[in-house]
Amino acid sequence: MNHLYSERPKVLVVDDHPSSRMTAVALLSVEGYEVIEADSGPAALEIVNTSNPDLILLDVMMPGMDGFEVCRHLKQDEQTRLTPIVFVTALDDRRSRLRGIEAGGDDFLTKPFDQLELSARVKSLIRQKRLNEDLDHAEQVLFSIARTVESRDPNTGDHCERLVSRGQSFGEFLGLSRSEIRDLMWGGYLHDIGKVGIPDSVLLKPGKLTPEEWQIMQQHVLIGETICQPLRTMRGVVPIIRHHHERWDGSGYPDGLVGDQIPYLAQVFQIIDIYDALTSERPYKKAMSADEALSILEEETAKGWRNPMLFERFKQYIKTVESSFAAEMTVERVMSESTQPVSKDLHTTTQETCRVV
Ligand code: C2E
Ligand code: SIN
Ligand code: FE
Repeated sequence: MNHLYSERPKVLVVDDHPSSRMTAVALLSVEGYEVIEADSGPAALEIVNTSNPDLILLDVMMPGMDGFEVCRHLKQDEQTRLTPIVFVTALDDRRSRLRGIEAGGDDFLTKPFDQLELSARVKSLIRQKRLNEDLDHAEQVLFSIARTVESRDPNTGDHCERLVSRGQSFGEFLGLSRSEIRDLMWGGYLHDIGKVGIPDSVLLKPGKLTPEEWQIMQQHVLIGETICQPLRTMRGVVPIIRHHHERWDGSGYPDGLVGDQIPYLAQVFQIIDIYDALTSERPYKKAMSADEALSILEEETAKGWRNPMLFERFKQYIKTVESSFAAEMTVERVMSESTQPVSKDLHTTTQETCRVV
């Protein structure tokens, strides 16, 4: 994946009001993006052709050519149709959202900007675009099936997105190779793709599953393997898909593998998956704190379900890397509240990869 460590992402801000452009430019520069500007629709089309931005923040209401028209142009052009377009509007009404969707827009933001929302949307869309650039058509189909599954499963929310970035940073912490880290990140998107074959009555059931339903649910790892197996580039991901619910003592599924019979990346992935499930809110339970989640994993390790050495490494990772990351987030928030934009590099090596349209 040649984009894994590539240059700073570039965002084009299109708005006829200089003051609105300035706000967006300031917020995005703080996040480390290269920002270019256009003050009209025609100027935007021109700049897109010469500078090839990774994402476009597009004002809806502009004199002359409005945002919808600009968007339609770009989405009809083979060269630019995959460039994500985020509509920026003061109006939050359904009608302009519908028109935006019709025009092919990828997302919406309302003014005034919420810094965290802007930053999250931009980061995730750019990741999707860069991943797409590195995928062939067959792979793109798999990733979009996975995304459909994610939107159907009420439990997940941004689950995959978090698995991918945690897969990358925990993978780096463990000193895994680049291709192993790539497999772990692809696993983040694809591990539950087999849930596409699980009926709604089971997948969407709010309560505990009956033994029969549990049998059906367990099939998701086999269905996922069947879907991904034909693609050569999925070779390293398929073991993660099949074996992410095995347990160290052999009591897991589908094969009841014991200890190091379980492919290592599947062990690594499983810890991340469970930790994320525990620390996220679900319809039937609140999110646990990091300490509570670690203590559940600790109990499960004591029961023999997880690799004890790997669990120790994960605990270390959470206590060192993620707690300093949390501290840094607080610092960023304080910085963004001051009016002075502070130039700061993106943590590009850990943020720059996956996710698909
Ligand atoms: P998921 O919700 O993404 O959970 C992934 C894994 O995280 C689970 O694998 C389990 O090891 C762990 N996990 C999730 N929630 C909890 C929890 O509250 N406590 C503990 N100790 N561990 C938790 P597992 O068990 O193999 O489940 C696989 C998938 O099956 C789950 O994915 C979910 O989609 C579904 N599922 C599991 N149990 C139930 C259930 O009781 N009701 C429904 N409707 N679905 C379930
Ligand atoms: C659950 O999802 O709550 C069951 C945990 C497990 O059996 O792994
Ligand atoms: Fe699963």
